Amino acid sequence: MAGAKKLYIKTYGCQMNVYDSERMAEALGGAGYEEISSPEGADMILLNTCHIREKAAEKIYSELGRMRVHKEANPDLKIGVAGCVAQAEGAEIIRRQPMVDLVVGPQSYHRLPEMESRAGGGAKALDTDFPEEDKFERLKARPKAMRGPTAFLTVQEGCDKFCAFCVVPYTRGAEVSRPVQRIVDEAKGLVERGVREITLLGQNVNAYHGAGPDGADWTLAKLIWALNDVDGLERIRFTTSHPNDMSDDLIDAHGSCAKLMPYLHLPVQSGSDRILKRMNRKHTAESYLRVIERIRAARPDIVLSGDFIVGFPEETEADFQDTLRLVEEVRYGYAYSFKYSTRPGTPAADRAQVDADAASDRLSRLQALITQHQREIQDAMVGREVSVLFEKPGRMDGQMTGKSEYLHAVHVTAPSLKAGDLARVRIMQSQTNSLAGDLI
Ligand code: SAH
Ligand code: SF4
Ligand code: F3S
Repeated sequence: MAGAKKLYIKTYGCQMNVYDSERMAEALGGAGYEEISSPEGADMILLNTCHIREKAAEKIYSELGRMRVHKEANPDLKIGVAGCVAQAEGAEIIRRQPMVDLVVGPQSYHRLPEMESRAGGGAKALDTDFPEEDKFERLKARPKAMRGPTAFLTVQEGCDKFCAFCVVPYTRGAEVSRPVQRIVDEAKGLVERGVREITLLGQNVNAYHGAGPDGADWTLAKLIWALNDVDGLERIRFTTSHPNDMSDDLIDAHGSCAKLMPYLHLPVQSGSDRILKRMNRKHTAESYLRVIERIRAARPDIVLSGDFIVGFPEETEADFQDTLRLVEEVRYGYAYSFKYSTRPGTPAADRAQVDADAASDRLSRLQALITQHQREIQDAMVGREVSVLFEKPGRMDGQMTGKSEYLHAVHVTAPSLKAGDLARVRIMQSQTNSLAGDLI
């Protein structure tokens, strides 16, 4: 595209932001922009931001500070802030950093091309509405270019759960599910462009209840079964789930749906019932463990992952010991753990804070235990036969790397392999963060 304007997007936060950034790049493609991979020479820079923890949100202001050199080099450069910081802070961003031209919340992305044409030369464009119309339908571009073998596809957005620590219900709004047929069509389009694995996304993806072609609301499991019939699509994953929405049909699908991969991210946050209650999680450690038990009964080899918060207000050492016990019982293949971060406007923000050193100490003990399990589960793959979807060349000559069904990174040296190949591999070696194997 000679003469095209250049767009640089930097994405922070969760996979839903990754998906949204792709959609925004496509929408701005229709407005004459071509995406580039560094900010030098850009006509527009868009930061797609995350508000989940204080550090994540503050990072945006330091990043904006660094963008000043690009604005000085090119006074026509437009700088936009999208995502959850845009939603949470709105016009405050322009007040703190006047060189920002445009602020757009996650539910208004379909208005971005029009906003872009209004912003710049001192004019500001701001939109943090929660409009009624289906933004995905309006964002729909018709890109033909081939792409890598894996893709994200947002099927559900927003959250009605209001955990006491979390900003998502405020930044993403109420839970909304996209209609089944649009998702299936989008999946078919991705497959035509070379995609073989799709990860269905939602802040509460297993609460999915989109309108089916029969007029009834469909569950996530029913959607997965419909995608299972899409020719050329080989693998389906979904994230992130809430323990209370692990319905029977979804658990069954883990045992019976061939394309649904044996990996599940099921955050629990804490192993203490007292803290879970204060978090407004609406489940107990025991009810969570029973869900895990049923999932393992349906799919014994499933690899589980989770999220944890340590140092939530009022958490004691005894509460933390309950968390360690739960981790011992589940044995996660992966897990993400965070120190509690106060988020203004959330119910937990005014409560008695845990001492920062105690929280740091708990975090390192939890992470050590998780790392140990992660290592043991990865090491136990040695000698086993797995399927690998190859994504890109590895660091060594003739090496390709991809993911197993359990989401482990696997390297294989075989010059015949190319991105998009799906092959059976015997695991020979477990390395620091990956496995090495041979083609069978
Ligand atoms: N919808 C998902 C994930 C939400 S955000 C769920 O319900 O699990 C991803 C993770 O960030 C959460 O699971 C939680 O562990 C963490 N998180 C959210 N708010 C946080 C806060 N205020 N401080 C620290 N971690 C937080
Ligand atoms: Fe946040 Fe809880 Fe909703 Fe997850 S379920 S997005 S942690 S409020
Ligand atoms: Fe962050 Fe918003 Fe995702 S706060 S985690 S980018 S939903």
